[in-house]
Amino acid sequence: MEGGFTSKSVVFVLFSMSIFLQCLSTSFSAQVQIFHGGKKQACNPYEGKWVYDESYPLFDSSKCPSIRKEFDCFKYGRPDRQYLKYRWQPNGCNIPRFDGGDFLRRMKGKKIVFVGDSVSQNHWNSLFCLLHEAAGESKITTLTNNSTTTVTFEEYGVSIIVFLSHYLVDIENEKIGRVLNLDSLKDGATWKEADVVIFNTWLWWYRRGPQQPWDYIEDNGKISKDMDRMIAFRKALTTWANWVNTDVDHSKTKVFFQGISPMHYNGREWNEAGVTNCSNETTPLSGSIYPGGEPLASKVLKEVLTTNTSPSKPVHLLDITNLSQLRKDGHPSKYNGFHGMDCTHWCVAGVLDTWNHLLYVELLQGI
Ligand SMILES: *[C@@H]1O[C@H](CO)[C@@H](O)[C@H](O)[C@H]1NC(C)=O
Ligand SMILES: *[C@@H]1O[C@H](CO)[C@@H](O)[C@H](O)[C@H]1NC(C)=O
Ligand SMILES: *[C@@H]1O[C@H](CO)[C@@H](O)[C@H](O)[C@H]1NC(C)=O
Ligand SMILES: *[C@@H]1O[C@H](CO)[C@@H](O)[C@H](O)[C@H]1NC(C)=O
Ligand SMILES: *[C@@H]1O[C@H](CO)[C@@H](O)[C@H](O)[C@H]1NC(C)=O
Repeated sequence: MEGGFTSKSVVFVLFSMSIFLQCLSTSFSAQVQIFHGGKKQACNPYEGKWVYDESYPLFDSSKCPSIRKEFDCFKYGRPDRQYLKYRWQPNGCNIPRFDGGDFLRRMKGKKIVFVGDSVSQNHWNSLFCLLHEAAGESKITTLTNNSTTTVTFEEYGVSIIVFLSHYLVDIENEKIGRVLNLDSLKDGATWKEADVVIFNTWLWWYRRGPQQPWDYIEDNGKISKDMDRMIAFRKALTTWANWVNTDVDHSKTKVFFQGISPMHYNGREWNEAGVTNCSNETTPLSGSIYPGGEPLASKVLKEVLTTNTSPSKPVHLLDITNLSQLRKDGHPSKYNGFHGMDCTHWCVAGVLDTWNHLLYVELLQGI
């Protein structure tokens, strides 16, 4: 076997590659340092379980002045309350309780921007209610223009902004029709003005027929009628990651990507064969394991973050997929302003308060 690889060296190469990949993956999977009882603890706050906590929820949704009718489960008659009473408990450490006043003071003068589909609007709506609760009587102004809503907590100079973008990459109106261009990300010029930005996209990638807001798809200069949607998703994320590497000033802007938000329409995923929606769900799954496993889109997202971003240009994964999978009870189901069955979005108050709690924990690290 002169000049060729011996099987030993192949094994060694594979082994070093896996070490290399593990190092890369720690660049986005958070190990946070938590002070608790005077001791510093390192832990992954996304690994844990839901525990019943009488002191929850963190706010009373009937006192929040602006909850979109898609998410306002209480107003639209949801009768059970237990889903509001769960706190996320990481396995390795305790995290500090969410403190909206502290959040506003630390973020003084900053713009926090959520970019993505309606799940981003949902996430933003929860943060709005959490901060509104803390801001008391202080002045809040709201400005809506086109796809953007900006709420400013004037006394603190903190703005939280939501920018609706279903795919992150562009849809361009051309002579032949609407073209989803996987290589182009024009709105990035606005996004990079943020001090903290949380991206998300997934919900729209498999839409077809009248619900699909484009006619053609462009990839690397080539226009076609359609392509494998998971490949398209991966390509768009790669375009986005390249933009993060080249255009974002990481000394100004902290970049997060929200993990894939799970839906609950398939009871087999939580060992209830025959169940086709979340209408009868009032409790979370116990423990940390979701029988349905990790969604493919979540694997694709993690692969892109691992291979296409660099530790010096970090993207922090807000890794909420597993903890949200356990919350089959957290969706509006029929208790929303449209009276359709919704096991995709989340009730406000509810699970998304925990996403914001974990965002707060990440920001406390001064990353
Ligand atoms: C809204 O978008 C349109 C078209 O993109 C633009 O002409 C207009 O100035 C925008 N309005 C605001 C208030 O930014
Ligand atoms: C519209 O919102 C964007 C993003 O927040 C902002 O940059 C722009 O100044 C706003 N335009 C107007 C007319 O308020
Ligand atoms: C939701 O599931 C229940 C039972 O699990 C079923 O009776 C109902 O028809 C379903 N509703 C919708 C809109 O799918
Ligand atoms: C809903 O849940 C209750 C209690 O968990 C159960 O007895 C009932 O059969 C369920 N209904 C449906 C339609 O799955
Ligand atoms: C989430 O679950 C997957 C398996 O379903 C596992 O590989 C992964 O480590 C879990 N992540 C966290 C943060 O618990």
